[in-house]
Amino acid sequence: MRNKLVVVTGGAGFIGSHIAWELVKDNDVVIIDNLYTGKEENVPPGAKLVKADIRNYGSITELIGNADYVFHEAAQVSVVESIRDPVFTEGVNVLGTLNILKALLEGHGKLIFASSAAVYGDNPNLPLRETERPRPLSPYGVTKATAEEYLRVYHELYGLPIVALRYFNVFGPRQGLNQYAGVISIFINRALKNEPLVIFGDGKQTRDFIYVKDVVRANILAAESRRANGRVFNVASGRQTTVLELARKVIEIVGANSPIVFDKPRPGDIRHSLADIGEIKRLGFEPEWSLEEGLKKTVEWYSKTEGEERK
Ligand SMILES: NC(=O)c1ccc[n+]([C@@H]2O[C@H](COP(=O)([O-])OP(=O)(O)OC[C@H]3O[C@@H](n4cnc5c(N)ncnc54)[C@H](O)[C@@H]3O)[C@@H](O)[C@H]2O)c1
Repeated sequence: MRNKLVVVTGGAGFIGSHIAWELVKDNDVVIIDNLYTGKEENVPPGAKLVKADIRNYGSITELIGNADYVFHEAAQVSVVESIRDPVFTEGVNVLGTLNILKALLEGHGKLIFASSAAVYGDNPNLPLRETERPRPLSPYGVTKATAEEYLRVYHELYGLPIVALRYFNVFGPRQGLNQYAGVISIFINRALKNEPLVIFGDGKQTRDFIYVKDVVRANILAAESRRANGRVFNVASGRQTTVLELARKVIEIVGANSPIVFDKPRPGDIRHSLADIGEIKRLGFEPEWSLEEGLKKTVEWYSKTEGEERK
């Protein structure tokens, strides 16, 4: 992708900032972010940050209308928060997405939407194919499934070029470290302090982890492929890792002497997760990063950057 006008919503956040850093090399990048969880320092030099809320149609119409591509990463991303405040979550994730679709009707751009494996809920038919019926377990999952439906309807009603990407467990540098953070960032940061790694349940539960740079490549591929228009794709590594295996790998890579501690399983946590990535592979995608290599890069980043916060 070259010489395009690209909008990244949520570009001051974890995944959006990686998309922005990659695309700013050869394109004009505008980031729309209200810094709800995002940070100004994540924005790459050369990209323009517009502090706006996607719930406010008037503040984003022109920016979206001018774009060639819109990578829509902005969201209320926490499952726990979505249970606490489903109305707020619906506002950001559904109304916000609908505003972007409406604004795109005024322009010419293509939308690449960050959906989630949360739309599947706890489905035992592994590996999960895109054709499985969505059955989310949280308001967060409902908002992602709903937003996907709006995308489909706008594609069918107006021929709007859209793609939805269902990310599985994404990890990498710049992933937020708040109470709702992903298991990898929590494990790494505890291991760096030699604190115990706490596993909820027996540790045999599995996840499909994908390194953020592979997610960026999947986004660019989906943007550039006309065959992807109107469709939904899993974005994952297609590999299953137990949480216990993950904890051991993190301890080894960090060189920590953290003990592994088992706690009660958390209600609402799914047992196993694994994607079938056949569809996105047929577009030409192949995950390039192994879990180990991705973990090494992530550990390197947290040990350099977050040192101050860990003290
Ligand atoms: N991280 C994962 O493993 C994962 C998995 C599945 C799906 N996703 C999806 O990927 C996208 C990016 O997630 P992330 O992990 O980078 O999270 P993140 O919290 O780091 O990024 C979200 C960004 O959106 C911004 N934002 C929130 N509300 C906004 C609003 N009303 N207006 C404008 N900006 C707003 C935040 O400030 C933040 O910068 C989200 O849509 C998320 O649901 C992430």
